Amino acid sequence: MKHEDLTYFKKWFKDFCGSYLTRAAKAAGAGDAEDRKNYSMKEEHTGNVLINAALIAGKHLPGENNLLIAQAAGLFHDVGRFPQYAKYKTFRDADSVNHGVLGVETLVENSVLTRLPEDERALVLGVVKYHNAFKIPAGENRTAPVFLKIVRDADKLDIWRFFTEMFDAPPADWPSAATLGLPDTDSYTPDVLSLVLEKRPVPHAKVRCVNDFKLIQLSWIFDLNFKTSFELLMEKNFVKLFSAGLPRTDGIARLENMLISLIEENLES
Ligand SMILES: [Fe+2]
Repeated sequence: MKHEDLTYFKKWFKDFCGSYLTRAAKAAGAGDAEDRKNYSMKEEHTGNVLINAALIAGKHLPGENNLLIAQAAGLFHDVGRFPQYAKYKTFRDADSVNHGVLGVETLVENSVLTRLPEDERALVLGVVKYHNAFKIPAGENRTAPVFLKIVRDADKLDIWRFFTEMFDAPPADWPSAATLGLPDTDSYTPDVLSLVLEKRPVPHAKVRCVNDFKLIQLSWIFDLNFKTSFELLMEKNFVKLFSAGLPRTDGIARLENMLISLIEENLES
């Protein structure tokens, strides 16, 4: 991949986002401002994921070409969010489509990556397809799971940034699609905490409130792959920021202790 390829991809993505924002602005209805907020949220997220991916790749992956591939994969990881929201008005995959798969379809339909050699194209598409899978599927992307791991970490880091900022603002300012329409109550679902403590997937049907959502986001720390990601996590104090909004129970304290030990181990490694 060349520098001009990444420049071309950034321009394509900017125009792509612009087309959805224009469409939302033209739509005659009360929801258009909300739609713009939701699209803008994803555009900003994408820019940050690209930066995080570059930071991680720069530390853990030698070579200019690898750095460019990691950035392109970061840039396109959520491209499926735009057609997903346009059609279904939600970012909840369970209620609509798998946005990783839709992202691959979007890139292929628009012939965005045709300027890349086939192996690099396959790498980027593999990252887009599996960036949102609960676990990295065994046997997939065998040649270079490293790009997938980089983007998954980069993505999580910016999702934590986004939500800690959002939870700091009045609920009326939260983009409607961000909390998946869940009620912001004082409690959490004990089953959700149990699954998180066991590092098991939480079925969508069990997620009932914003605090459940926070627990799931905290559990993503178990999946971080690189020391740089743990450093960025600590720099921003995300564990503390998320935990602050949760009820002070023994179970929550146990989760916090598990996470803090894991972070310490990884920072020392
Ligand atoms: Fe995503």
